[in-house]
Amino acid sequence: MYLTREQEKMLNGEYGWAVAKALELIVKVGEYLGADKLVPIMHAHVSGISYKNIGEPGLLFIKELFRGGGIARVYTTINPGCVDLMGSSRIISNELLGKQILVNEYLEKMSMKPTYTCIPYLHRPPAPLERLAWGESNAVIIANSFYGAMTNREGGPIALAAALTGYIYHAGLQVMDNRVVEKEMVLDQSIGEELYGALGLWIGENITGIPLIRKHRLSIYDAKIVLAASAASGSHGLIVLENITPQNTYRISDKVEKISVDVKDLRKYRGTPPSVGEEVLFYIGCPHLHPSEFMFIYKYLEKQEHVNKYDFLLTIPRIYAEIFSREIEVLRRKGVDIAIGTCPVVSVLSKKYDKVVTNSGKAAFYFKKIHGIEPYITSLKKIVEMIIS
Ligand code: F3S
Repeated sequence: MYLTREQEKMLNGEYGWAVAKALELIVKVGEYLGADKLVPIMHAHVSGISYKNIGEPGLLFIKELFRGGGIARVYTTINPGCVDLMGSSRIISNELLGKQILVNEYLEKMSMKPTYTCIPYLHRPPAPLERLAWGESNAVIIANSFYGAMTNREGGPIALAAALTGYIYHAGLQVMDNRVVEKEMVLDQSIGEELYGALGLWIGENITGIPLIRKHRLSIYDAKIVLAASAASGSHGLIVLENITPQNTYRISDKVEKISVDVKDLRKYRGTPPSVGEEVLFYIGCPHLHPSEFMFIYKYLEKQEHVNKYDFLLTIPRIYAEIFSREIEVLRRKGVDIAIGTCPVVSVLSKKYDKVVTNSGKAAFYFKKIHGIEPYITSLKKIVEMIIS
Protein backbone atom coordinates (compact mmCIF):
# COMPACT_ATOMS: atom_id res chain seq x y z
CA MET A 1 0.00 0.00 0.00
CA TYR A 2 1.26 3.47 -0.84
CA LEU A 3 1.81 5.67 2.24
CA THR A 4 2.64 9.38 2.25
CA ARG A 5 5.61 10.69 4.24
CA GLU A 6 3.26 11.88 6.97
CA GLN A 7 1.59 8.46 7.17
CA GLU A 8 5.03 6.75 7.33
CA LYS A 9 5.96 9.01 10.23
CA MET A 10 2.69 8.19 11.99
CA LEU A 11 3.37 4.49 11.58
CA ASN A 12 6.93 4.91 12.90
CA GLY A 13 5.68 6.46 16.13
CA GLU A 14 6.68 10.07 15.45
CA TYR A 15 3.12 11.18 16.31
CA GLY A 16 2.95 9.06 19.48
CA TRP A 17 2.05 5.50 20.44
CA ALA A 18 -1.74 5.80 19.96
CA VAL A 19 -1.47 7.21 16.42
CA ALA A 20 1.04 4.48 15.47
CA LYS A 21 -1.23 1.70 16.77
CA ALA A 22 -4.29 3.25 15.15
CA LEU A 23 -2.62 3.64 11.75
CA GLU A 24 -1.19 0.12 11.96
CA LEU A 25 -4.74 -1.21 12.43
CA ILE A 26 -6.08 0.77 9.46
CA VAL A 27 -3.19 -0.33 7.21
CA LYS A 28 -3.66 -4.01 8.17
CA VAL A 29 -7.41 -3.95 7.45
CA GLY A 30 -6.82 -1.91 4.28
CA GLU A 31 -4.21 -4.39 2.99
CA TYR A 32 -6.56 -7.27 3.70
CA LEU A 33 -9.26 -5.50 1.66
CA GLY A 34 -6.87 -4.71 -1.19
CA ALA A 35 -6.66 -0.94 -0.62
CA ASP A 36 -4.03 0.88 -2.70
CA LYS A 37 -3.69 3.88 -0.34
CA LEU A 38 -5.19 5.74 2.60
CA VAL A 39 -7.51 8.72 2.14
CA PRO A 40 -8.21 11.64 4.50
CA ILE A 41 -11.62 11.81 6.16
CA MET A 42 -13.72 14.76 7.36
CA HIS A 43 -15.72 13.04 10.10
CA ALA A 44 -15.40 9.85 12.15
CA HIS A 45 -18.35 8.35 14.00
CA VAL A 46 -17.31 5.93 16.71
CA SER A 47 -19.71 3.06 17.41
CA GLY A 48 -19.17 0.05 19.68
CA ILE A 49 -18.88 2.15 22.82
CA SER A 50 -21.66 0.52 24.88
CA TYR A 51 -19.97 -1.05 27.92
CA LYS A 52 -22.64 -3.77 27.86
CA ASN A 53 -21.30 -4.82 24.44
CA ILE A 54 -17.56 -4.12 24.68
CA GLY A 55 -17.06 -5.04 28.36
CA GLU A 56 -13.71 -4.76 30.12
CA PRO A 57 -11.56 -5.52 27.00
CA GLY A 58 -13.19 -2.65 25.11
CA LEU A 59 -12.80 -0.26 28.03
CA LEU A 60 -9.09 -1.21 28.30
CA PHE A 61 -8.54 -0.71 24.56
CA ILE A 62 -10.02 2.82 24.74
CA LYS A 63 -8.10 3.60 27.94
CA GLU A 64 -4.79 2.49 26.35
CA LEU A 65 -5.35 4.73 23.34
CA PHE A 66 -6.08 7.65 25.66
CA ARG A 67 -3.00 6.95 27.82
CA GLY A 68 -0.95 6.60 24.63
CA GLY A 69 -1.71 10.21 23.72
CA GLY A 70 -4.70 9.59 21.43
CA ILE A 71 -6.60 12.69 20.36
CA ALA A 72 -9.18 13.07 17.60
CA ARG A 73 -7.57 14.67 14.54
CA VAL A 74 -10.93 15.14 12.77
CA TYR A 75 -14.49 15.98 13.85
CA THR A 76 -15.64 12.86 15.74
CA THR A 77 -19.06 11.93 17.10
CA ILE A 78 -19.97 9.11 19.50
CA ASN A 79 -22.71 6.45 19.26
CA PRO A 80 -25.12 5.65 22.14
CA GLY A 81 -23.85 3.98 25.29
CA CYS A 82 -25.71 1.55 27.56
CA VAL A 83 -27.17 3.97 30.13
CA ASP A 84 -29.76 6.74 30.17
CA LEU A 85 -27.59 9.82 30.64
CA MET A 86 -30.31 11.55 32.68
CA GLY A 87 -30.79 8.47 34.85
CA SER A 88 -34.57 8.59 34.91
CA SER A 89 -35.57 5.67 32.64
CA ARG A 90 -37.49 2.88 34.38
CA ILE A 91 -37.06 0.60 31.37
CA ILE A 92 -33.34 0.92 30.62
CA SER A 93 -31.23 -0.22 33.54
CA ASN A 94 -28.45 2.02 34.81
CA GLU A 95 -26.58 -0.88 36.48
CA LEU A 96 -23.51 -0.30 34.25
CA LEU A 97 -23.46 3.47 34.83
CA GLY A 98 -19.99 3.63 36.45
CA LYS A 99 -18.31 1.65 33.66
CA GLN A 100 -20.10 3.51 30.86
CA ILE A 101 -19.12 6.86 32.36
CA LEU A 102 -15.47 5.72 32.32
CA VAL A 103 -15.73 4.83 28.60
CA ASN A 104 -17.39 8.18 27.90
CA GLU A 105 -14.76 10.13 29.83
CA TYR A 106 -11.85 8.58 27.92
CA LEU A 107 -13.54 9.31 24.58
CA GLU A 108 -14.36 12.89 25.53
CA LYS A 109 -10.82 13.46 26.82
CA MET A 110 -9.66 12.42 23.35
CA SER A 111 -11.67 15.41 22.00
CA MET A 112 -14.62 13.42 20.68
CA LYS A 113 -18.00 15.17 20.76
CA PRO A 114 -20.33 13.86 23.49
CA THR A 115 -23.18 13.27 21.04
CA TYR A 116 -24.20 9.74 22.16
CA THR A 117 -26.46 9.28 19.19
CA CYS A 118 -26.74 6.97 16.20
CA ILE A 119 -27.88 9.83 13.92
CA PRO A 120 -24.58 11.75 13.72
CA TYR A 121 -25.80 13.61 10.61
CA LEU A 122 -27.97 15.59 13.03
CA HIS A 123 -24.80 17.28 14.28
CA ARG A 124 -22.95 17.46 10.98
CA PRO A 125 -24.75 16.49 7.76
CA PRO A 126 -22.12 15.20 5.31
CA ALA A 127 -21.66 16.64 1.82
CA PRO A 128 -21.86 14.56 -1.37
CA LEU A 129 -18.64 12.60 -2.02
CA GLU A 130 -17.20 13.63 1.33
CA ARG A 131 -15.12 10.84 2.84
CA LEU A 132 -16.12 9.60 6.30
CA ALA A 133 -15.23 6.72 8.59
CA TRP A 134 -18.49 5.92 10.33
CA GLY A 135 -19.37 2.98 12.50
CA GLU A 136 -23.09 2.26 13.16
CA SER A 137 -24.72 0.62 10.14
CA ASN A 138 -27.85 2.82 10.09
CA ALA A 139 -25.78 6.00 10.03
CA VAL A 140 -23.50 4.60 7.32
CA ILE A 141 -26.33 3.72 4.95
CA ILE A 142 -28.00 7.13 5.46
CA ALA A 143 -24.66 8.86 4.82
CA ASN A 144 -24.16 7.00 1.53
CA SER A 145 -27.75 6.73 0.32
CA PHE A 146 -29.29 10.00 1.46
CA TYR A 147 -26.33 12.40 1.55
CA GLY A 148 -24.15 10.75 -1.12
CA ALA A 149 -21.14 10.67 1.19
CA MET A 150 -18.53 7.90 1.06
CA THR A 151 -18.10 5.55 3.99
CA ASN A 152 -17.80 1.84 4.58
CA ARG A 153 -19.50 0.12 7.49
CA GLU A 154 -16.61 0.43 9.90
CA GLY A 155 -16.33 -1.50 13.14
CA GLY A 156 -15.91 0.49 16.37
CA PRO A 157 -12.10 0.04 16.65
CA ILE A 158 -11.51 1.09 13.02
CA ALA A 159 -13.71 4.19 13.33
CA LEU A 160 -11.81 5.07 16.51
CA ALA A 161 -8.47 4.52 14.75
CA ALA A 162 -9.65 6.73 11.86
CA ALA A 163 -10.61 9.46 14.35
CA LEU A 164 -7.09 9.41 15.85
CA THR A 165 -5.27 9.46 12.50
CA GLY A 166 -7.66 11.29 10.18
CA TYR A 167 -7.29 8.53 7.54
CA ILE A 168 -9.13 5.46 6.30
CA TYR A 169 -8.25 2.80 3.72
CA HIS A 170 -9.27 3.37 0.10
CA ALA A 171 -11.47 0.31 -0.56
CA GLY A 172 -15.12 -0.73 -0.66
CA LEU A 173 -17.56 2.18 -0.86
CA GLN A 174 -14.65 4.68 -0.76
CA VAL A 175 -14.02 3.68 -4.39
CA MET A 176 -16.43 4.97 -7.05
CA ASP A 177 -16.06 1.76 -9.11
CA ASN A 178 -17.65 -0.15 -6.23
CA ARG A 179 -20.70 2.09 -6.04
CA VAL A 180 -22.49 0.44 -8.94
CA VAL A 181 -26.20 -0.38 -9.01
CA GLU A 182 -26.95 -3.86 -10.34
CA LYS A 183 -30.53 -4.37 -9.12
CA GLU A 184 -33.58 -2.22 -9.52
CA MET A 185 -36.57 -2.53 -7.23
CA VAL A 186 -40.01 -1.29 -8.16
CA LEU A 187 -42.14 -1.06 -5.05
CA ASP A 188 -45.85 -1.69 -4.92
CA GLN A 189 -47.33 1.80 -4.35
CA SER A 190 -49.46 0.43 -1.52
CA ILE A 191 -46.30 0.00 0.57
CA GLY A 192 -46.61 2.75 3.15
CA GLU A 193 -45.33 3.71 6.58
CA GLU A 194 -46.61 0.63 8.40
CA LEU A 195 -44.57 -1.61 6.13
CA TYR A 196 -41.31 0.35 5.92
CA GLY A 197 -39.63 -1.55 8.76
CA ALA A 198 -40.69 -4.86 7.20
CA LEU A 199 -39.56 -3.68 3.75
CA GLY A 200 -36.07 -2.92 5.09
CA LEU A 201 -35.81 -6.35 6.72
CA TRP A 202 -36.94 -7.99 3.47
CA ILE A 203 -34.33 -6.10 1.43
CA GLY A 204 -31.59 -7.02 3.91
CA GLU A 205 -32.44 -10.71 3.71
CA ASN A 206 -33.26 -11.02 0.02
CA ILE A 207 -31.13 -8.57 -1.96
CA THR A 208 -27.37 -8.61 -2.35
CA GLY A 209 -25.25 -5.89 -3.96
CA ILE A 210 -26.41 -2.30 -4.41
CA PRO A 211 -30.08 -1.91 -5.31
CA LEU A 212 -31.89 1.13 -6.65
CA ILE A 213 -35.38 1.92 -5.37
CA ARG A 214 -37.44 3.62 -8.07
CA LYS A 215 -40.68 5.58 -8.00
CA HIS A 216 -41.05 5.77 -4.27
CA ARG A 217 -40.21 9.12 -2.78
CA LEU A 218 -39.10 8.44 0.79
CA SER A 219 -38.70 11.27 3.30
CA ILE A 220 -35.61 11.13 5.50
CA TYR A 221 -37.82 9.73 8.27
CA ASP A 222 -39.06 6.89 6.03
CA ALA A 223 -35.58 6.30 4.60
CA LYS A 224 -34.20 6.08 8.14
CA ILE A 225 -36.56 3.20 8.92
CA VAL A 226 -36.17 1.30 5.62
CA LEU A 227 -32.39 1.68 5.40
CA ALA A 228 -31.65 0.93 9.07
CA ALA A 229 -33.62 -2.32 8.85
CA SER A 230 -31.90 -3.40 5.63
CA ALA A 231 -28.51 -2.75 7.19
CA ALA A 232 -29.52 -4.80 10.25
CA SER A 233 -30.84 -7.94 8.54
CA GLY A 234 -28.31 -7.65 5.69
CA SER A 235 -24.94 -6.12 4.98
CA HIS A 236 -26.05 -3.12 2.93
CA GLY A 237 -24.07 0.11 3.09
CA LEU A 238 -25.67 1.86 0.10
CA ILE A 239 -29.14 1.67 -1.42
CA VAL A 240 -29.68 4.20 -4.18
CA LEU A 241 -32.96 6.12 -3.82
CA GLU A 242 -34.23 7.60 -7.08
CA ASN A 243 -34.41 11.42 -6.95
CA ILE A 244 -32.75 11.47 -3.51
CA THR A 245 -29.25 9.97 -3.69
CA PRO A 246 -27.04 12.64 -5.32
CA GLN A 247 -26.45 11.55 -8.91
CA ASN A 248 -22.67 11.81 -9.16
CA THR A 249 -22.18 9.53 -6.13
CA TYR A 250 -22.99 6.19 -7.82
CA ARG A 251 -23.14 4.57 -11.27
CA ILE A 252 -25.68 2.27 -12.85
CA SER A 253 -24.47 -0.94 -14.48
CA ASP A 254 -25.38 -1.75 -18.09
CA LYS A 255 -27.03 -4.92 -16.86
CA VAL A 256 -29.62 -4.23 -14.20
CA GLU A 257 -31.79 -7.00 -12.80
CA LYS A 258 -35.39 -5.93 -12.09
CA ILE A 259 -36.94 -7.09 -8.85
CA SER A 260 -40.49 -6.51 -7.75
CA VAL A 261 -41.54 -6.49 -4.13
CA ASP A 262 -44.90 -7.87 -3.19
CA VAL A 263 -46.77 -6.59 -0.14
CA LYS A 264 -47.63 -10.18 0.79
CA ASP A 265 -43.92 -10.99 1.17
CA LEU A 266 -43.50 -8.18 3.68
CA ARG A 267 -46.32 -9.15 6.03
CA LYS A 268 -44.49 -12.00 7.74
CA TYR A 269 -41.75 -9.57 8.81
CA ARG A 270 -44.28 -7.50 10.75
CA GLY A 271 -45.09 -10.10 13.41
CA THR A 272 -48.44 -10.23 15.18
CA PRO A 273 -50.17 -7.55 17.26
CA PRO A 274 -50.10 -7.95 21.04
CA SER A 275 -52.79 -10.08 22.64
CA VAL A 276 -54.56 -9.62 25.94
CA GLY A 277 -52.43 -10.52 28.94
CA GLU A 278 -49.08 -9.97 27.19
CA GLU A 279 -46.55 -7.65 28.82
CA VAL A 280 -45.94 -5.10 26.04
CA LEU A 281 -43.32 -2.43 25.46
CA PHE A 282 -44.17 0.31 22.96
CA TYR A 283 -40.93 1.68 21.54
CA ILE A 284 -40.00 4.49 19.14
CA GLY A 285 -36.51 5.84 18.65
CA CYS A 286 -34.44 3.32 16.67
CA PRO A 287 -32.62 5.01 15.02
CA HIS A 288 -32.77 7.89 17.50
CA LEU A 289 -35.61 10.32 16.93
CA HIS A 290 -35.07 13.23 14.59
CA PRO A 291 -36.20 16.59 16.14
CA SER A 292 -39.30 16.66 13.88
CA GLU A 293 -40.27 13.13 14.91
CA PHE A 294 -39.80 14.03 18.56
CA MET A 295 -41.96 17.16 18.18
CA PHE A 296 -44.61 15.22 16.25
CA ILE A 297 -44.95 12.82 19.20
CA TYR A 298 -44.84 15.68 21.70
CA LYS A 299 -47.65 17.58 19.93
CA TYR A 300 -49.73 14.43 19.77
CA LEU A 301 -49.38 13.64 23.47
CA GLU A 302 -49.23 17.18 24.86
CA LYS A 303 -52.97 17.43 25.38
CA GLN A 304 -53.43 13.93 26.83
CA GLU A 305 -53.94 13.58 30.58
CA HIS A 306 -51.81 10.47 31.10
CA VAL A 307 -50.27 7.96 28.74
CA ASN A 308 -48.97 5.58 31.40
CA LYS A 309 -51.45 2.80 30.79
CA TYR A 310 -48.58 1.13 28.86
CA ASP A 311 -44.79 1.16 28.99
CA PHE A 312 -43.89 3.62 26.23
CA LEU A 313 -40.19 4.25 25.58
CA LEU A 314 -38.58 6.94 23.43
CA THR A 315 -34.81 7.06 22.81
CA ILE A 316 -33.19 10.33 21.76
CA PRO A 317 -29.78 11.98 21.23
CA ARG A 318 -28.01 13.50 24.24
CA ILE A 319 -28.33 17.04 22.93
CA TYR A 320 -32.15 16.96 23.30
CA ALA A 321 -31.68 17.07 27.09
CA GLU A 322 -30.73 20.73 26.47
CA ILE A 323 -32.83 21.76 23.48
CA PHE A 324 -36.04 19.93 24.44
CA SER A 325 -35.76 20.00 28.25
CA ARG A 326 -39.26 21.46 28.72
CA GLU A 327 -40.93 19.02 26.32
CA ILE A 328 -39.09 16.06 27.88
CA GLU A 329 -40.32 17.09 31.33
CA VAL A 330 -43.92 17.43 30.10
CA LEU A 331 -43.84 13.98 28.49
CA ARG A 332 -42.21 12.40 31.53
CA ARG A 333 -44.90 13.80 33.83
CA LYS A 334 -47.48 12.10 31.61
CA GLY A 335 -45.73 8.75 32.02
CA VAL A 336 -43.60 8.53 28.87
CA ASP A 337 -40.23 6.86 29.52
CA ILE A 338 -37.51 8.88 27.78
CA ALA A 339 -33.94 7.58 27.67
CA ILE A 340 -31.15 9.86 26.51
CA GLY A 341 -27.96 8.83 24.72
CA THR A 342 -28.81 5.14 24.73
CA CYS A 343 -31.25 2.58 23.32
CA PRO A 344 -32.71 -0.77 24.43
CA VAL A 345 -30.60 -2.72 21.93
CA VAL A 346 -27.22 -1.70 23.39
CA SER A 347 -28.34 -1.69 27.03
CA VAL A 348 -29.77 -3.91 29.77
CA LEU A 349 -33.57 -3.86 30.24
CA SER A 350 -34.94 -3.44 33.76
CA LYS A 351 -38.14 -5.33 32.99
CA LYS A 352 -39.26 -8.44 31.13
CA TYR A 353 -41.62 -8.13 28.16
CA ASP A 354 -43.46 -10.62 25.95
CA LYS A 355 -43.75 -8.25 23.01
CA VAL A 356 -42.34 -5.01 21.64
CA VAL A 357 -44.47 -2.83 19.36
CA THR A 358 -42.21 -0.60 17.29
CA ASN A 359 -41.99 1.27 13.98
CA SER A 360 -38.40 0.11 13.58
CA GLY A 361 -37.44 -3.00 11.63
CA LYS A 362 -33.95 -2.74 13.11
CA ALA A 363 -35.28 -2.67 16.68
CA ALA A 364 -37.63 -5.58 15.84
CA PHE A 365 -34.67 -7.59 14.50
CA TYR A 366 -32.48 -7.01 17.56
CA PHE A 367 -35.19 -7.26 20.20
CA LYS A 368 -35.79 -10.80 19.02
CA LYS A 369 -32.11 -11.65 18.58
CA ILE A 370 -30.75 -10.09 21.77
CA HIS A 371 -33.63 -10.01 24.23
CA GLY A 372 -35.74 -12.89 22.85
CA ILE A 373 -38.78 -10.57 22.65
CA GLU A 374 -41.27 -11.00 19.80
CA PRO A 375 -41.81 -7.80 17.76
CA TYR A 376 -44.79 -6.26 16.04
CA ILE A 377 -43.96 -3.57 13.47
CA THR A 378 -46.33 -0.74 12.66
CA SER A 379 -46.07 3.00 11.93
CA LEU A 380 -44.97 5.71 14.36
CA LYS A 381 -48.41 7.33 14.14
CA LYS A 382 -50.22 4.06 14.87
CA ILE A 383 -48.08 3.49 17.95
CA VAL A 384 -48.89 6.93 19.32
CA GLU A 385 -52.59 6.28 18.65
CA MET A 386 -52.38 2.90 20.41
CA ILE A 387 -50.80 4.56 23.44
CA ILE A 388 -53.65 7.02 23.91
CA SER A 389 -56.53 4.69 22.98
FE1 F3S B 1 -29.52 3.49 17.24
FE2 F3S B 1 -29.76 1.63 19.05
FE3 F3S B 1 -31.20 1.52 16.89
S1 F3S B 1 -27.89 2.59 18.44
S2 F3S B 1 -29.97 2.47 15.32
S3 F3S B 1 -31.32 3.12 18.46
S4 F3S B 1 -30.13 -0.17 17.79
